[in-house]
Amino acid sequence: MSTSWPKWLPLRTSLRSLSPYGAPQIPNVLSLNTNENPFDLPASVVDAMLAKLPEVLTHLNRYPDRDALRLRSLLSDYINHSSKTSFTSANIWAANGSNEILQTLMLALGERPALGFLPSYSVHPLIAQVTGVQWFAGERNPDFTLDVAKAVALIGSAKPGLVFITTPNNPTGTKLTIGDIKKLSIATAEVHGLLIVDEAYAEFSDELSAVTLIEELNNVVVVRTMSKAFAFAGARLGYLIARPEIIDACLITRLPYHLSSPTQAIAEIALAHSDVLMAEVNLLKAERTRVEDQLTVMGLSVVPSAANFLLFTGFTKPASEIWRELVDAGILIRDVGIAGYLRVTIGTPTENDRFLAALNLLK
Ligand SMILES: Cc1ncc(COP(=O)(O)O)c(C=O)c1O
Repeated sequence: MSTSWPKWLPLRTSLRSLSPYGAPQIPNVLSLNTNENPFDLPASVVDAMLAKLPEVLTHLNRYPDRDALRLRSLLSDYINHSSKTSFTSANIWAANGSNEILQTLMLALGERPALGFLPSYSVHPLIAQVTGVQWFAGERNPDFTLDVAKAVALIGSAKPGLVFITTPNNPTGTKLTIGDIKKLSIATAEVHGLLIVDEAYAEFSDELSAVTLIEELNNVVVVRTMSKAFAFAGARLGYLIARPEIIDACLITRLPYHLSSPTQAIAEIALAHSDVLMAEVNLLKAERTRVEDQLTVMGLSVVPSAANFLLFTGFTKPASEIWRELVDAGILIRDVGIAGYLRVTIGTPTENDRFLAALNLLK
């Protein structure tokens, strides 16, 4: 899309240099580029949703529960079960994907600048720009780990109101320990800021979730999504776990009735089937290890990943060429703009075999 906007269009000056965010969506290729869960929803889950739909559709004349109370209560049960916490619906906010959660947060709490550590999820600075929040970019080490002492020093000097940390990090897959997250939270509290921990890939990691810190540290805000582990990207359901005051602040900037009643109903059913869906997460974790091993056997270097994707390097030609040749072979992975690296989402075993065989001919 052109960024040379016509003069008559009163587009905000701060948006004139932007183009719409989005990874390529190419029909009829194997899509291993947006970290989706490759498994269709199990038939038992689909059947339960279909059984619920007639009632939900009949009442589409009514607005949905504006505060999504039942769904938020089920989300708190899910988090309490997986992280041994004791949250209630007052600690949870839900929206159309975690991107909407991030936007709601920045609109409500983005008075002072935000700080993130790159490379990380590129939508964080994008939402900052769109919502008028000043963005400071910190750095990661060359191996994509975070130098926590340096990060703490930067927080102290930049004094951001919001600090963003993604763990496991996208696009690198690297994770932070709970001890390091605690250090970042304390440093952020010293400058009266909030630490926003984006845990979109938490279920694929063996590390403790930052939700376990919230009771002790009131400035920790955890952003989660059902897009990845719950195989629910098309439904759009993200959520936030934090102190009730932070949830209340989000209520100010959320749009009224933002979460449709069908979305709320099917998300409740997906949560009731979390055991079945988490079994598939374990399968993907095993596949992650297998694909990593195979890439290493091919002579490539893989960044250690705690997510459902791998970032890898070591090609004999430019990464952009490999990316294009894979597309020509019907396989779409992601060129995330880190020189020499490509990122692949873990697919089903058959999809991974197809990707590995194609790459082996090209690298
Ligand atoms: C780190 C991170 N956060 C948030 C999101 C957004 O997820 P969704 O809006 O589907 O919940 C993504 C999507 O890939 C992501 O990688």
